[in-house]
Amino acid sequence: MVKILKNPEEVGLEAARMLTRQLIHKPNSAVALPTGSTPLKMYKAFVKFTEFEIVELEDVHFFNLDEYVGLTKDDPISYAYYMNVNLFSRIGKVNHDIPRTDAADSEKEALEYEEKIRRAGGFDLCFLGIGIDGHIGFNEPGTSFSSVTHVAKLHSSTIERNSKLIGKVVPKKAITVGIKTIMNSRRIVLMATGIEKSKVMLQFLLGDVTPELPASVLQLHPKVTILLDEEAADKIKSNASEFHLINP
Ligand code: F6R
Repeated sequence: MVKILKNPEEVGLEAARMLTRQLIHKPNSAVALPTGSTPLKMYKAFVKFTEFEIVELEDVHFFNLDEYVGLTKDDPISYAYYMNVNLFSRIGKVNHDIPRTDAADSEKEALEYEEKIRRAGGFDLCFLGIGIDGHIGFNEPGTSFSSVTHVAKLHSSTIERNSKLIGKVVPKKAITVGIKTIMNSRRIVLMATGIEKSKVMLQFLLGDVTPELPASVLQLHPKVTILLDEEAADKIKSNASEFHLINP
């Protein structure tokens, strides 16, 4: 299902509603979370919802989708830091995992992370952002659809964009949950906002399913919701009847 909302605030609000509904329905859900600029509004709205105290957070298990390799534990560039600042320090104690940026052996860390996800029963709900090259998590174009959690080499466009966003050069490698792991989620919500995402949304929703555009694999998932703001939906509006993604 594709939902076109007015602006990034509305996208964040709707995503936070979906997360809250999931946790009311199944308090011990395993939920995958992205970082970056897109989910900030969702985290802000979710923090507000938790203040109503209608959601029990003791049994939820949050997993981050990815983490840079080779930083020190509390480096402000790390996604662990980002998650702490934007979500975890604001909602009280919750069970959350993220690959260790400072693991001595990142390949081993990736395998152990996959095992942790497996032990949690896979993701009940997986939130995703999307890169302008169609990456999901840090699964860059060309990544096998059968990949599980692994160490990924980031594309120069991703390094450039992410470095610009935070004003510091980010690492060239990351541990990312794989595409197969994402596809095993029981429900997926992909968020995209801003005009810079409008081209990739057109390719993703109307193009072929191909590893060259990792997000295109979501056309094959039975339960995906795409939340777009008007800018990100700019190029697809005129083709609305032709989406391959028409599942409930
Ligand atoms: C980050 C992640 C990435 C981002 C994507 C979009 O955890 O999984 O796939 O979602 O790079 O980033 P923003 O939201 O900054 O445009």
